[in-house]
Amino acid sequence: MKHLIDPMDLSVEEIDDIIELALKIIENPAKYSEVCRGKKLATLFFEPSTRTRLSFEAAMMELGGNVLGFSSADSSSATKGESVADTVRVVGCYADIIAMRHPKEGAPMLGSIYSPVPIINAGDGGHNHPTQTLTDLLTIKREKGSLSNFTIGLCGDLKFGRTVHSLIKALSRYEGINFILISPDELKVPDYIITDVFEKNNIPYREVRTMEEVMGELDILYMTRVQKERFFNEADYIRLKDSYILDTKKMKQAKDDMIVLHPLPRVNEIDIKVDEDKRAAYFRQALNGKYVRMALMMTLMGVTV
Ligand code: CP
Repeated sequence: MKHLIDPMDLSVEEIDDIIELALKIIENPAKYSEVCRGKKLATLFFEPSTRTRLSFEAAMMELGGNVLGFSSADSSSATKGESVADTVRVVGCYADIIAMRHPKEGAPMLGSIYSPVPIINAGDGGHNHPTQTLTDLLTIKREKGSLSNFTIGLCGDLKFGRTVHSLIKALSRYEGINFILISPDELKVPDYIITDVFEKNNIPYREVRTMEEVMGELDILYMTRVQKERFFNEADYIRLKDSYILDTKKMKQAKDDMIVLHPLPRVNEIDIKVDEDKRAAYFRQALNGKYVRMALMMTLMGVTV
């Protein structure tokens, strides 16, 4: 039985297979509409979500299966003190696969030790978000045609942004990726990303403070929001929250074929006028999340066509 806790749990070949399957589903959704008949997905969300939970649920429905679960810790027996280990032992009696989001880093990993069914990490604290990474990779593949040989700028809250940490780890195994990290000093990527990912693998990276100095170099701009819920001090959040705002003026500095990605939700970091630009790919990215989660669940449950 395989779980997905960290993007590195999947080899490059396994990621490529999931992306290929997602592309086949996009081409012919009717062929897959009954493949999970009789299967159940449980969504255990101890932290809020719109895209991840609902796209998982839509994905299982579009495969012909059913869903059950909860959307906040308040409506589960966690409020009575039940542990994550006991929760997954019990839910594993009712479902064939579990998607779990939890504010504590490592909670889905702990769950995977006790679960009788595959566990998918749907986001754990500021740590990892591997299914967002699969979504990002499918989007890059569809928009740019390849997962190799480009310059990607990651902008905003690179310290707490779990989507950034997971995406860097996954992309570090592809050829010819040049990373530009755009953040204030207080929100730089954690040291382990620099030492264990970039330096250990001789991957080119640069840390810069402004978007303007690099806009013209980027093939992909990955915007992120400042993660209010991870700050200890509200004054720090208020000071940093508008560090970067992508607007139509900055888009004029970018290449004609650069794409803008954002895991969403957006707060203030992309002006809504940018939505009209064909290079704004973030809503197409949200749709890709459903297809790649269909492919992932089929893969982890061993469902073939
Ligand atoms: N991208 C993402 O994880 O969005 P949600 O928090 O709405 O699930």
